[in-house]
Amino acid sequence: MKRIGFLTSGGDCQALNAAMRGVVKTLEHAEEPVEMYGFMDGYKGLIYGDFRMLTDRDFSGILTRGGTILGTSRVPFKTIQEPDENGLNKVEAMTQNYHKLKLDCLVVLGGNGSHKTANLLRKEGLNIVTLPKTIDNDLWGTDMTFGFQSAVDIATEAIDCIHTTASSHSRVFIVEVMGHKVGWLTLNAGMAGGADIILIPEIPYDIKNIVEKIEERDKEGKAFTIIAVAEGAISKEDAKLSKKEYQKKLEKYPFPSVSYEIASMIQEKTGREVRVTVPGHMQRGGSPCPYDRVFASRLGAEAGKLILDGEYGFMVGYKNREIIKVPLEEVAGKLKYIDPSARIIKEAKLLGISFGD
Ligand code: F6P
Repeated sequence: MKRIGFLTSGGDCQALNAAMRGVVKTLEHAEEPVEMYGFMDGYKGLIYGDFRMLTDRDFSGILTRGGTILGTSRVPFKTIQEPDENGLNKVEAMTQNYHKLKLDCLVVLGGNGSHKTANLLRKEGLNIVTLPKTIDNDLWGTDMTFGFQSAVDIATEAIDCIHTTASSHSRVFIVEVMGHKVGWLTLNAGMAGGADIILIPEIPYDIKNIVEKIEERDKEGKAFTIIAVAEGAISKEDAKLSKKEYQKKLEKYPFPSVSYEIASMIQEKTGREVRVTVPGHMQRGGSPCPYDRVFASRLGAEAGKLILDGEYGFMVGYKNREIIKVPLEEVAGKLKYIDPSARIIKEAKLLGISFGD
């Protein structure tokens, strides 16, 4: 008998269910019977022993379903080693629940923070296999995470819709795209949606350059401008501040987000009408796109194979068009940023896109 646990952790995204289905379908090839346990709401379920037994039927018909059938939550890595409000040692509780259920392996579907915890559990002696989920695509060790392409589709559609109204009204429009501290989603949706200016955290902007680009377009008879702004975009000035100084600035920040600050500066410097659109969590919602369905299923199948072969302590990832396995200790705690000198940035600049730098 093999006993496998599953949990989905951190912000949800499309194709979590497709990935789990891929693992389960592959485990059907096991020579011995497989018992499956789903921990509810991420690591919380493992900490507090909140689980349910799952059968193949739970994974049937979920390839196209967004969200996660197990629920998810954020338990920040910072707090995982601190006792909870009743003094419970969370790491001890997780290992005990794993052993109580006599699990052979725990499958964790998570992003950056969740991988730090997964690696910690590995160090505690648990058998772990992970799958890379996040719309941010910021996980180190894999070229792509599932959820990313679906989110690119949604953010692109938002920019497409804004395009028509922006051109009718000759307005400057900002579309704020998710992505946390990295710009993958904004860069891809921005290029796909034909944004004129793309602002990402990896390339700090100068408002002067943004205004210049808008005025240049005006002179060319293009009366509207579309700006795709990553939620983590930062000005050159702010990028020079220490973490503490920047935090202090944010305490008194009068804007709901960076896009509104940029909008107010453009309005002040150009007298133009500027509007901000924030698609927000829509980018994480709905069904996975066909790419993600295939991609997550492939990763799930490879994770299932690792379990069948008894190979633990890996994230299944994707590098140079190949599915690979990456040791968890290499993944944990590292973010994958866009290299400002990458070819895609150079190509975008050749297309006339301004990064405000
Ligand atoms: O990590 C995914 C993500 O959607 C980020 O892009 C965003 O910054 C964050 O999660 C939002 O978190 P929450 O769902 O907790 O509001």
